[in-house]
Amino acid sequence: MSLLAWSESLVLNQPRLDQTHHEMVDLINGLDAALAAKVDAMPAFLALLEHTEAHFALEEGWMAATGFEPQNCHSSQHKMVLNVLHEVRRYAVELNDLEPMHIIGKELAQWLPAHAEMMDAALVFHMSQVGYDPTTGQIAPRPGQAQAEASHACSGGSCG
Ligand SMILES: [Fe+2]
Ligand SMILES: [Fe+2]
Repeated sequence: MSLLAWSESLVLNQPRLDQTHHEMVDLINGLDAALAAKVDAMPAFLALLEHTEAHFALEEGWMAATGFEPQNCHSSQHKMVLNVLHEVRRYAVELNDLEPMHIIGKELAQWLPAHAEMMDAALVFHMSQVGYDPTTGQIAPRPGQAQAEASHACSGGSCG
């Protein structure tokens, strides 16, 4: 059984982000499968780490393009996850301790749906409000609609 199943509840109706999240689900399950099979899990872990770095950079590029402050709650959550993933790699490489790697997949399987529902959904909504097209990188002014406020803080909910 996989750690996390892709489902409609994860869909944010932003094709590039949905594809990225779907890939992350597969990579989390791939790491779990490698650990369960007791084969070298480092390639699966590094694939997840690299993908996560690119995934967060993609979203943060969108934030920068639509007026988010560099220091914002969403980015802080990304930073926290990347710090943990780098620590997991350090434990494995420097201390030969794979215990954190066994834990991180389960943690991410819980973290991703919650983060996507709150932070990523708010980002997608914000992009649509300001008329930002992530494919072209252009903001299309929409007559009769007030420009949405740039998000400077957490979009609903705590930073937890
Ligand atoms: Fe995301
Ligand atoms: Fe995010």
